[in-house]
Amino acid sequence: MAATVETFRQGRSIPQNLYGRGVPDQTVSIVTDALDKWFALLDGGRYDDAYASPPVIRAIPLTLASREILCEDNAVVRLTFASTDGADLPAWTPGMHLDFTLPSGRRRQYSLCGDPAERNTYTVAVRYIPDGGGGSTEMHSLEEGAAVTVRGPRNGFPFVPRGNAVFVAGGIGITAILPMVRAANAAGMDWHLVYCGRSRESLPFLDEIEALPPGRVTIRTDDAAGIATGPELLERAGTGAVYCCGPPPMIDAVRRAFDSVPATHLYFERFSPPPVRGGVEFEVQLVDTGEIITVPSDTTALQAIREIKPDVAYSCQQGFCGTCRTRVLSGTPDHRESRLTPEEQESEMLICVSRAEGGRIVLDL
Ligand code: FES
Repeated sequence: MAATVETFRQGRSIPQNLYGRGVPDQTVSIVTDALDKWFALLDGGRYDDAYASPPVIRAIPLTLASREILCEDNAVVRLTFASTDGADLPAWTPGMHLDFTLPSGRRRQYSLCGDPAERNTYTVAVRYIPDGGGGSTEMHSLEEGAAVTVRGPRNGFPFVPRGNAVFVAGGIGITAILPMVRAANAAGMDWHLVYCGRSRESLPFLDEIEALPPGRVTIRTDDAAGIATGPELLERAGTGAVYCCGPPPMIDAVRRAFDSVPATHLYFERFSPPPVRGGVEFEVQLVDTGEIITVPSDTTALQAIREIKPDVAYSCQQGFCGTCRTRVLSGTPDHRESRLTPEEQESEMLICVSRAEGGRIVLDL
């Protein structure tokens, strides 16, 4: 899952780089410290250090210890990775994710969905996306004993286990939400989970979720009840927080409905790229081949380039991981991210989100 978080409080967005996604690695720990301070403010000064982000650790080698198919339609696999020496791994809290480097070199982000108390393993669950960029295919093909490298855990979708909370999960979005639900339940919070998907067969973790206390969970599937509206998803929202992880239409529906419920905080995480807003058509020229690619106003440069050059490197598609960083040889980019420094932006761009305001840019690809 590629994780992006935007947080709203009283309808105001928080700058992206508060979440550790818009900064070079060497400054991440500083930014997460700032993030923790921000949460202290958010929580009226009562924020507990127990939920603070741990320092971001450099690359950690892991071995796949077990794999298990979770859905009847075989589309989701749960993968548990162990430290190579049996030692404890860096601690994590609900909502955190890992940045994986797969054997092919692909980089992908997946939310941790296991038990934070199990310190020598990390567990993620991955939905197979046949027409995706190959990351889920590779994760599904890993055999026990396979070696991967991760960085993190990163605090991308923070959870404060106090007050009341409504959780909204769409399909594989449950991986980020489920550890929060377990923590809310363990903390005796007043909480409710709305879990949506195409059909019951497509919903991972259904057995565990249906074993949660009666009345706390609403399972809603498109084949039985149609696609839920925003007001339906937030029907149980109280005066606390709403946490949402799912496909873009679900997040958009929740965002639109949020102003009409009493909840004070909305936290959400995307697992696919946000739509292009306010884009204009421009051209990209690849210096290796001289090919000129037209990037339509509603398409990212990365998407257009992948049509011609499918092996171009990318991961999050949301401007925070830096995998798609590309040298600009001529032209003026319209930078739409906060990861690169102003100096770096003079000669590079993140092609998954940044574009050009018309004209042509020549890229070192
Ligand atoms: S793919 Fe992650 S920043 Fe572009």
